[in-house]
Amino acid sequence: MIEEAARLIARSRFLIAFTGAGISAESGIPTFRGKNGLWENYRIEEVATPQAFSRNPELVWDFYRMRMRKMMEAKPNRAHFALAELERMGLLKAVITQNIDDLHREAGNTVVELHGNIYRVKCSSCSYRENLKESGRLEEFIEEKALPRCPECGALLRPDVVWFGEPLPESEWRRAVSLAKKADVCLVIGTSAQVFPAAYIPMIVKDEGGRLVEVNPENTGITHLADVVLRGSAGDVMERLLEKVKSCLAEKC
Ligand code: APR
Repeated sequence: MIEEAARLIARSRFLIAFTGAGISAESGIPTFRGKNGLWENYRIEEVATPQAFSRNPELVWDFYRMRMRKMMEAKPNRAHFALAELERMGLLKAVITQNIDDLHREAGNTVVELHGNIYRVKCSSCSYRENLKESGRLEEFIEEKALPRCPECGALLRPDVVWFGEPLPESEWRRAVSLAKKADVCLVIGTSAQVFPAAYIPMIVKDEGGRLVEVNPENTGITHLADVVLRGSAGDVMERLLEKVKSCLAEKC
């Protein structure tokens, strides 16, 4: 199966990747579903909806400051670096991710973030936005106990992430759909493919005649659509797959 996947990738004209929390598991960031997933210890309606934020912003900020701390310590892993190498080789055009951990960008890929970014905050009222990593205010922001307020208008700042019940950012969604329509091969890595509209991305690739290569230790919502299924963890599989692609290119497979 991995040889077949390597051939599809080596011969691809427009390769993309669609990723979820599983690709960052090896970096120490918990996934959402499955054993000790985040949603086993927190209720979505208490920490990840607009209603939760207006009802109890302290609880929501405790949750996101905890996730910022966890993600700050995380580094890209073998799977992230394999995707960055595939882009450097001129094969991979972009990574479309549901993850907010910034690890694909850190690894060096061109990224479309469908669900936002944990290091970006935005005003709940005016158009103020800040990337705390770039402004160098991340550590002080996380240690701050008080509710963060907008320096422009004084309203509450919120995480610049997509909560349940919220629309995806328009320009990122449009970019993702246009990439999916052009893709002849899509690597689907570490996602249960249960959350929409993000999970439509691999389906659009398939509808447009593209091929899907799934990398996941378990079955998912799109396993039935996959042309090749590579069972295993993203780090192991992507490291082996990258080597196979390189030897395939060398042998003009
Ligand atoms: N390597 C590859 N895949 C893995 C690994 C690993 N080491 N460990 C777990 N997985 C797989 C699981 O089998 C599962 O299919 O990663 C997937 C994680 O699924 P979810 O926890 O549902 O994460 P994700 O698909 O990214 O969730 C989508 O849901 O809660 C929202 O906004 C949140 O972006 C998130 C969205």
